[in-house]
Parts: sequence; C-alpha cells; structure tokens
Amino acid sequence: MANGLVRLLIYSLGVLSIANRASGDAPSFQSILANDNIEVHVAGQAGYQNASRAFNLRLQLQPAAIAYPGSVEEVSDLVKAGASLGIPVSARSGGHSHAAYGLGGTDGHLVVDLAHLNDIEVDNSTGIAMIGTGSRLGDIAIRLFNQGGRALPHGVCPLVGIGGHASHGGYGFNSRLWGLTMDNIIGATVVLANGSIVEASATQHPDLFWAVRGAAPSFGIVTHFQFQTFVAPTQPTYFSYNWSLPLDQSIEAISLYQDFSFAPSIPKEIGFELNLYKGVEQGEILLNFLGSYYGNPDEYDAIVKPFLDVMPNPTFSPQVEVTTWLENMELLAGPGVPLASTPTSIAANHDSHYTKSLTTPSDMPMSQEAITALASWMSAEGWRTKTYWFVQLELYGGNGSQIDAMLSNATAYANRNALWILQLRASSPTHLPPYPEEGFAFVDGLVNSITTNVPDKYQYGAYPNYVDPRLTPKEWHKLYYGTNYRRLRKIKTQVDPNGVFTFPQSIPPLQ
Ligand SMILES: Cc1cc2nc3c(=O)[nH]c(=O)nc-3n(C[C@H](O)[C@H](O)[C@H](O)COP(=O)(O)OP(=O)(O)OC[C@H]3O[C@@H](n4cnc5c(N)ncnc54)[C@H](O)[C@@H]3O)c2cc1C
Ligand SMILES: *[C@@H]1O[C@H](CO)[C@@H](O)[C@H](O)[C@H]1NC(C)=O
Ligand SMILES: *[C@@H]1O[C@H](CO)[C@@H](O)[C@H](O)[C@H]1NC(C)=O
Ligand SMILES: *[C@@H]1O[C@H](CO)[C@@H](O)[C@H](O)[C@H]1NC(C)=O
Ligand SMILES: *[C@@H]1O[C@H](CO)[C@@H](O)[C@H](O)[C@H]1NC(C)=O
Ligand SMILES: *[C@@H]1O[C@H](CO)[C@@H](O)[C@H](O)[C@H]1NC(C)=O
Ligand SMILES: *[C@@H]1O[C@H](CO)[C@@H](O)[C@H](O)[C@H]1NC(C)=O
Repeated sequence: MANGLVRLLIYSLGVLSIANRASGDAPSFQSILANDNIEVHVAGQAGYQNASRAFNLRLQLQPAAIAYPGSVEEVSDLVKAGASLGIPVSARSGGHSHAAYGLGGTDGHLVVDLAHLNDIEVDNSTGIAMIGTGSRLGDIAIRLFNQGGRALPHGVCPLVGIGGHASHGGYGFNSRLWGLTMDNIIGATVVLANGSIVEASATQHPDLFWAVRGAAPSFGIVTHFQFQTFVAPTQPTYFSYNWSLPLDQSIEAISLYQDFSFAPSIPKEIGFELNLYKGVEQGEILLNFLGSYYGNPDEYDAIVKPFLDVMPNPTFSPQVEVTTWLENMELLAGPGVPLASTPTSIAANHDSHYTKSLTTPSDMPMSQEAITALASWMSAEGWRTKTYWFVQLELYGGNGSQIDAMLSNATAYANRNALWILQLRASSPTHLPPYPEEGFAFVDGLVNSITTNVPDKYQYGAYPNYVDPRLTPKEWHKLYYGTNYRRLRKIKTQVDPNGVFTFPQSIPPLQ
C-alpha cells in the first residue's frame, strides 16, 4: 500500500511536471487512482479546485495534492509518501484557519484532509469520548449530547474543525467553567513524520503530548483525540444586549466592561464577551454584550445586575433565553446556522478576511489611554473603512476561570494568565475576494492603538487559533509561545528533524 501510493504520487507529480513542460495539458489520473482506495486530487483534475478552497477566500493556494484517507494507516502512508518525495505535509480538519494553514499556508503542500475520520464515540462508564479529527464542532455537540447528555467546552461556530481548534486552544462561553477544549484532552493518536502511529498522553510520549496541545501541526497528524467530557448543563441562559453609543459613552462602557470582567463576584459558570461593530449613527460604536450562564437560571439576573445597572439602557430590546443545551448552542451559532454540518453548509461557508489577536494580562487593567485610542480608531476609521469589521473582547480570565487554573508551561499553549483575548477582524464588504488592501492597515491600527498606549510591563500575547500570518517570526515565537518556544524546538528536533511538517509558522528544528 505505502509503496503503491508513493509510486502513485511520484508518477502523478512527474507526469504533471513533464506535461506542463511539454504542452501545459492537464494529464488524466483517473486510471491510476482507480487502483488505489485513497481519494487524491492533483492539480488539473476535476475536484482539485473545490478541494483546495480555503474558508478564508483571501488566500488562494495551489497544493501539490489533497488526499482523503479513510483510516489511520492511510494517514501514515500519506505522510511517508510526502516525506520520501520531500513535499511538506499538512493536516486539514475543518479548514477554518485564518491563514489557510490547513492547506499549508503556501503552495505545494500535500494536504491530508481528515474528513473521513469523523467518528465520535462516548464510553458511558467513564464519559471519555474518542473523536476523529475530521469532526466539526456542531456535529460533536449533537453526538456527545445524544450519547448520555455529554458536552465539551468549545467555540460557537458549528463548522470549525476539532483538529485545529483543540490543537491551539478552543474557547467557548463554558471555558471559564471547564477550561479550553485542549485542557480536556487526555490522549491523542498521532502519526509522526516517519509514519509511525503513537498514542500520546500524560504517561505515553509525554513530551509529544505537551507539544500537541498548542502546536500539533508541527509535530504530526492527530487522527483522534480522547476527551474527558462533562454532563451538559440542563438549563443554560443565553443573553445578548446591544447599545449604539457615541465615542465618549463607548469609552466609558468599555471601561465598565473591564471593571465587570475583573469583578470578584462573577462565578465561573458565566462566560461572556463584548463585541464591537460600526454603530447606527455616524461615529457611533455598536456594543454587543453576549454570553451564557450555565448555573441555576434564577441566579442569572443578580450576576449581571452590577454591570447592567451602570450601563445606559440598551438601544435595542435585549434577548435572554433559558433553553436546553443544544438550543443554547443553536442560539450561539446565530440565526439560520444549523448545528449539524451538511455538504451544502460546508460549501457555502466562507469569508475573505484578515484577523489579528491580542491576549491581555490578568494582573493589570488596560490603560485608559489604550481604551480611548481603540474606541477613537473604531469611531473614526471604523466609519471610513469599506471593510466589514468587528472587535471581540472575550473573557478568558476573571474570578474562578479554569483556563487560568493551569500553569503557562503545563501545555505548549502558553497564554494562561489572560483576562481577555481580543479578536480584531476586517472582512471584504461582500465576504468574497477581492480583499481591500486598506483592511490590513485598519486592523493593524486597532492593535497598535492598544500596544502603543500601555506600559512595558503590560505583558500581552497572541492566540494561535486566531493565527496571524503577518507576524514576524520573532513576534509569533514570543506572542504565541513565550518561554515554551525553546522546549518546542527541542521536541521538534527529536520527532521531525527533517521538517516534514513545515508551514510558515511551524516550529523549526534546532540547527
Ligand atoms: C468562523 C470562525 C469562528 C471561530 N470561532 C472560534 C471560537 O468561538 N473559539 C475559538 O477558540 N476559536 C474560534 N475560531 C478559530 C478556530 O478555532 C481556528 O481557526 C481553528 O484552528 C480552526 O480549526 P480547523 O480544524 O477548522 O482548521 P484547519 O485549517 O483545518 O486547521 C488549522 C491548523 O491546525 C492544523 N491541524 C488541523 N487538524 C489537525 C490535526 N488533526 N493534526 C494536526 N494538525 C492539525 C492545520 O494543519 C492548521 O495548521 C473561529 C474561526 C472561524 C473561521
Ligand atoms: C450510552 O448511553 C446512551 C443514552 O444514555 C445510549 O443511547 C447509548 O446507546 C449508550 N452507549 C453505549 C455504548 O452503551
Ligand atoms: C468566585 O468564583 C467562585 C467560583 O465560581 C465562586 O464560588 C465565588 O463565589 C466567586 N467569588 C465571589 C466573591 O463571589
Ligand atoms: C445585537 O447586534 C448584533 C450585531 O449587529 C446582532 O447580530 C444581534 O442580533 C443584536 N441583538 C440584539 C438582542 O439586539
Ligand atoms: C466540494 O467540497 C465539499 C467539501 O468541502 C463537498 O462537500 C462538495 O460535495 C464538493 N463539491 C463538488 C462539486 O465537488
Ligand atoms: C513550570 O513552571 C513551574 C512554576 O513556574 C515550575 O516550578 C516548573 O518546574 C515548570 N515545569 C517545567 C516542566 O518547566
Ligand atoms: C519514528 O520516530 C519516532 C520519534 O522520533 C521514533 O521514536 C521511532 O523509533 C521512529 N520509528 C521508526 C520506525 O523509525
């Protein structure tokens, strides 16, 4: 099998380059592929273009090939084939990387799409779930709930894949209560650069287990994660409040939101964010306070009262709904977005955007100067730009947060002591290409308004799930990994010395 596949790829790529040199005609691979049961799409072939589409249409890449293995052994065969041909290999799960790293981030990768490895099984006696990394978050929520009322903490967008999400964090409104998605991984099946298939856990290959939780794509292809799941809350409370406010009141509101984020009274059962958009009238900012409470619904009002009491009356009528677990997930996904994936929903799901992130320290508030500069940029430039933009201030820390309960060296993911993680995004007005060049400067300006107005001791970082391909190596080493970066390089040298898993922000082996 392995040899057959290697021959297939050598033959395919060889024919392609010869054909291109001779005439530019795309060769037919159908006869060769018919002899192999791994579905492979190579340039020029029907299906290649569709298979090489990124969620972020701003980035259009030409992979060497996209393969859809049906088993762990076939993943291993593909990795060995890529390694022997000297082609970098990249895993794709849900394809939602903001930098199209599921396609390798640059042309010429062998993409191993895990779509067929989408099993989701719960062991009823332990609550441990075995999840194939081709699974998407909405399908996972449904399948876990239907197998004994179980749940995991994770993001709200149903089509995000578990492979990238769990490998780089994984934040949902229940993460203060249960931790990041990755914090609940108890084991991983990993295909290494030499094709060997290993189980990584606290007791087996512990270095690899540490590295996978923060930087998996540099170390191997995870085919399955084992998670410790939770009993799903019975009556979650969804909430959403909106204000459209002029600049001075927006500055005040963001400061009040910061005070509330630091309040010792908030229990870990509540999760929320403040989303900022272009407002209703010229210069205004729309502030959306959104989240969920997972405790007894009778306690909800008293928890949010200290914040709502000091805010103006909402501009639009608030939405507060007590529902079942899956209905709560549907509300968070947004209107018209089904939880279960379908070929149609996957094909229609895209954006054309640029995203940056900032993690803010939990031991120091953001300065008044930074809040003022950020709000002023949104109020002025936010009305000038043609892009569709938003800024999210997501609460990761605060009283009782389980995300911060782990040491920053417990996993390769390092940004444990963050109060907020900010996501700052500008999309093309139609969410389709072309992407307006001014979008980069607009987003850079949002981030710079903060970073140039805080003292040196304000230790900010960046969130690797909001991956930013425009960070320099020096920046991303520090902002994503801090002091964990050195240990990652040592482990990389042991498990992938030749860099089979290489992409623009992969961990390099030591020289
Ligand atoms: C619409 C949208 C909503 C989002 N909402 C949230 C949110 O609420 N909370 C949050 O925390 N994040 C959120 N994110 C960010 C999201 O978590 C990341 O983009 C995530 O990395 C995407 O994972 P993926 O598997 O879909 O992407 P992919 O592009 O498939 O993969 C992302 C990276 O992980 C690697 N990778 C994927 N699978 C594997 C594997 N099996 N083994 C090894 N490496 C692998 C890829 O090679 C690539 O480098 C959102 C993103 C989008 C686009
Ligand atoms: C686990 O429990 C659920 C419901 O409680 C049941 O539907 C399912 O069949 C059980 N699975 C196994 C493997 O026993
Ligand atoms: C802080 O959170 C914990 C855990 O959720 C909770 O028990 C405690 O009551 C909170 N602190 C205060 C002062 O309310
Ligand atoms: C608040 O504003 C957001 C963003 O415009 C919108 O999606 C949401 O429906 C609004 N919610 C309420 C309760 O007004
Ligand atoms: C395109 O790819 C998606 C998966 O991303 C698949 O569901 C769909 O059927 C494909 N469409 C075509 C025309 O091949
Ligand atoms: C992690 O950090 C803690 C506290 O800073 C330290 O005691 C411990 O030795 C560190 N662990 C490793 C593996 O470096
Ligand atoms: C594959 O690589 C791993 C990690 O470096 C090593 O432990 C293992 O012995 C290698 N296997 C083979 C067959 O070379």
